[in-house]
Amino acid sequence: MDDSNFKKPVNFREQRLLRNASTSQNGARLAAIKPPGNLGVPRAGGYRNKVALKPGHSALDWHELTSNKGKRQGLVTRANELLQNDLEHLRRTNYAPTLSQLSRNVPLYLIRPPLRVDKQLLQKHNTKDDCWCVINGKVYCLTSYLDFHPGGVDILLKNCAGKDATIMFDKYHRWVSYDKLLETCFVGIYVE
Ligand code: HEM
Repeated sequence: MDDSNFKKPVNFREQRLLRNASTSQNGARLAAIKPPGNLGVPRAGGYRNKVALKPGHSALDWHELTSNKGKRQGLVTRANELLQNDLEHLRRTNYAPTLSQLSRNVPLYLIRPPLRVDKQLLQKHNTKDDCWCVINGKVYCLTSYLDFHPGGVDILLKNCAGKDATIMFDKYHRWVSYDKLLETCFVGIYVE
């Protein structure tokens, strides 16, 4: 049979829904399979909307960016200004080897022991151009990721910028492997 008229599943979620729908007894899952444009699919955690991403901001583009610029520290905004702006604070809260690696421009995601970020430091990075957030005790710089986020920029700025976003992250998509997606955006560990 020629199945060229059928829309192919475009992402993991659609593929999963299609797989589940074929075995679904009550048809409820079938109802969740809607063509793009039908936003607001009911799922655990409530109704959620995906936004249209700008051209050049697909998941593949993000992968490309993290694999290149990310490996060279390019995705943590103003990493090189940390020592200038917060030297005294960092000296009080961090180990000498961490700061020594930072001064030698070792990418933050490779520094061991990792940078220790407390609430005071986290809260300073709360804008669109300089956006840090905590998920499960790890601090990430989301600045470069904002435009790639399928849920949109605004929801991240409101719930993540300069904050611990763990609860909201889990509420919307506990299954998303943020640690892989944001590997090279890693800033350090969050210390209370
Ligand atoms: C901070 C790291 C975050 C990462 C790496 C991330 C990543 C993602 C990814 C990969 C998706 C697509 C999920 C899918 O296709 O099933 C998504 C969707 C979404 N995210 Fe996030 N997200 C983050 C934080 C958040 C936060 C804190 C919120 C809410 C406050 C949020 C709200 C949403 C919404 C509303 C969607 C679209 C709706 C949906 O999947 O049904 N995200 N996010």
